[in-house]
Order: sequence, then C-alpha cells, then structure tokens
Amino acid sequence: MTAKIIDGEAVASKIREQVKADVEEIVKTHGFPPGLATVLVGDNPASRQYVRMKQNRCKKVGIVSFGHTLSAETGQDEVEKLVRELGEDPKVHGILVQLPLPDHLDEEAVLNTIPLHKDIDGFHPVNIGRLAMKGRKPLFIPCTPAGVIRLLEEADAEFDGAEAVVLGRSNIVGMPVAMLLIHRNATVTVCHSRTKDLPGVCRRADILVAAVGRPQMVKADWVKPGAYVIDVGSNRVDDPESERGYRWVGDVDFDEVKEVAGAITPSPGGVGPMTIAGLLQNTLRAAELAIERGEVPQ
Ligand code: GUN
Repeated sequence: MTAKIIDGEAVASKIREQVKADVEEIVKTHGFPPGLATVLVGDNPASRQYVRMKQNRCKKVGIVSFGHTLSAETGQDEVEKLVRELGEDPKVHGILVQLPLPDHLDEEAVLNTIPLHKDIDGFHPVNIGRLAMKGRKPLFIPCTPAGVIRLLEEADAEFDGAEAVVLGRSNIVGMPVAMLLIHRNATVTVCHSRTKDLPGVCRRADILVAAVGRPQMVKADWVKPGAYVIDVGSNRVDDPESERGYRWVGDVDFDEVKEVAGAITPSPGGVGPMTIAGLLQNTLRAAELAIERGEVPQ
C-alpha cells in the first residue's frame, strides 16, 4: 500500500488566499491593515530565517509587519519594555517573540508581558492554561499544533477513540498537539527520551505525530499499517550530492514509511507551510478582535 500524501502547501495556499481576501475587506471597511510585530533577540540563523519568512508571507496577504531585532546581550528589562510598548501600540494587533530566546532571558516572563488579545502564537500562560483544561477556550491556538490538526482533518482522520502517539513533548509542538488531540477524544500517549520501546509504542498509533528533531528517526516498522503520520520535523542533513551540500528531511523516513502508512505529510511541504498560514489567520483574528473592541489606529 502507498500512503495518501497530505499536501500542506496546497492547504496553506487555500488559507493564505482566504486571509488575503479578509484583509482586503478590513482595509476597505475600516481603513487600516492588520499589523504583526516580530521580536527577534540574537542572531540564531534559523530564527532569523523563520522571522524573515513570516514577514514575507505577511506582506503577500496585506498584513503589515513591524520587525524588531535586538542583540543577543539584551537584558530582560529591555525585552519586556519593548513587548509592553508593542502591547500598547494600536497599529500592532499581534506580537510574535521568536523562540528560543537566549539562555539568560526568562522566556515565561517575556511571554507574560504580551497582552492576551495580541498573543497570536498562543504561548501566553493563560492561553496555554486554557488549552490544557476541559471546556475552556484559548483566545489563540499555537500555529504549528493547529496546522497538524487541520492536516489530519483535511485527510479525513477519525479522532474519536483513536490511539494517538505524539513523539516529543516541547512547549511549542508536542504538548499543545497532545491537548488538541485529547479535546478531539483521541487516547493520547506522549513519548520522550525516557520512553521505553519507542517503536512498539509508535506501532499502536492510528495517528502518529513526530516532533523530536531527529532526522528520519521513524522507520517503516514503527508504523501501524494504514496509520496517519504527521511529520513536524525539519532537519538539515549533509548531502554531498546536492548543489548546496545539504538537504532538509523530516523526523520520519518518508520513503520507507509511505509504503506502510495510510496518509503521510512530506517534509518539507507538509506542516511547515501550515505554521505560517496559522500565524496569518491568528493575526487577522487579532485585528478583528481589536475592531470589535473599537480600537482603531490613528
Ligand atoms: N520557534 C519555533 N517555532 C516557533 C513558533 O511557532 N513561534 C515562535 N514565536 N517561535 C518559534
């Protein structure tokens, strides 16, 4: 059996078109565009690249981005001061503090200074707390986890009573994905570095989400025939045969696993584009919330 390939780029493209149309409507009706502020501390090349990609996508759908880059030595007070100022700026509807922050900074304290209604990453402790509880609604859901669920929905995965296994327990992906799957009535196992018999646990999964940052770790014999496999990993590996000397691979050995799975995302081209599409959707929603509150930038 060869798996159905879930095309994240196609789904993300549909979302971007919808956001673009909605942004045009806001500009026409209210006279201002949604605004996203990005805060990058330090010069981590991957983070710089992610922020640049986010800003480019904003521009293409008509969202204005306000980029702030601070040196790696910036102190806690200065970062928090900037975030607080952005929180009070009516042109800024969403604030994105790119993670990870340099080690000397207190990430939780920085995220706490983002006003709830501008927390388009969904990382504010209150939004995460609501996500972790039954019957509560966060104002925003983290973009990558939301993208994982959307791709499963697009592929018609059955959540109710499904065995779901999440590989990785990061705050950005593993933990919130697990919460979202539980809310959809899946039975969820979260695996990590101390998990015993990882292949055996993964083989139980009807839905397998890999988010560990280990190139091609998930092999065909880790996967239950017919399972839905979502690969969040994006790892740079050496490849002397490629022009650049490297290539990008996921946490799943795609060529092997596609012969066993029922549906699978490629990486690149699966979850990656969904993360930015989700960010655009959340920024649009933040602007709509500001309009509902009657906040109009001068
Ligand atoms: N670092 C890796 N992924 C993300 C993300 O989705 N948002 C932020 N702010 N930082 C990240």
